[in-house]
Amino acid sequence: MSEIGTGPMTDDLSGKVALVTGGASGIGLATARRFAQAGAQVLLADLDAAAGGRAVEGLAAEGLTATFVQADVACEDDVRRMVERALDVHGALHVLFNNAGVSRGSEPVTEVALEDWNRILAVNLTGTFLGMKHGIAAMLKGGGGSVINNASVFGLVGMAGQAAYTASKGGVLQLTRTAALEFAAKGVRVNAICPGFTETPILAKPTPAEATRMAMGRALTPLGRYAQPAEIAELALFLASSRAAYITGAVLPVDGGYLAR
Ligand SMILES: NC(=O)c1ccc[n+]([C@@H]2O[C@H](COP(=O)([O-])OP(=O)(O)OC[C@H]3O[C@@H](n4cnc5c(N)ncnc54)[C@H](O)[C@@H]3O)[C@@H](O)[C@H]2O)c1
Repeated sequence: MSEIGTGPMTDDLSGKVALVTGGASGIGLATARRFAQAGAQVLLADLDAAAGGRAVEGLAAEGLTATFVQADVACEDDVRRMVERALDVHGALHVLFNNAGVSRGSEPVTEVALEDWNRILAVNLTGTFLGMKHGIAAMLKGGGGSVINNASVFGLVGMAGQAAYTASKGGVLQLTRTAALEFAAKGVRVNAICPGFTETPILAKPTPAEATRMAMGRALTPLGRYAQPAEIAELALFLASSRAAYITGAVLPVDGGYLAR
């Protein structure tokens, strides 16, 4: 990345290659759009190929170009292929947004099914680990880059009924800090975003437990509304860019004041 001292401080991502996981929907799609608007060559990776196709078409209708790669971030072969695709198509990888994530259910720890625990940890935490393992290796070949991990305010505080989700997101924050230390001297910055309650497609058809959780979340958010995905994307763009040249290992909430209570 061009950093202060070696280039201008700008959020222009022209000439940069950016990979967004979970890019077919919600925060990932909004961020892929913002990266493309900033001039990056964008790859969207997602488990859902149909949604990925629709996302690429939607961006094209806005005059933006992106390449879709189907990948399950919990599967190392898929993640390896996803990163290789970035190198094959664009010759480099400069920005990685590890964003794919899932949540499920609303039970106390004593009732969480091991299968659900394992899948949530596999996607949210192992997926972020695998993204960094292969993504940072690719960035190092090109002289550096920026990794942004999408955690949650629930990586920093607990939430009843969300044991696996909160544990996975807390793990993402520690992975972020550790990788930031490991690669700071090699030109790779690693940061985490902690969104608060964000208006993504999950709100269109919530389960009763999700509807209750989201309504409670809005009520407890000082700004009194959900975040828009584009508001999370703004921070991702900033962290991706040379404007954030001196920021690494940081954990940054975008939460309408939720954590200030
Ligand atoms: N929406 C919120 O309120 C909120 C708040 C804090 C953090 N987050 C985090 O933001 C991230 C994005 O969430 P969103 O709200 O935009 O959700 P979303 O459901 O709109 O998008 C998530 C995308 O990830 C994809 N995905 C799921 N599992 C995958 C896998 N194994 N491999 C690849 N892709 C996979 C889905 O197909 C989907 O397209 C998640 O990590 C989530 O935990 C969301």
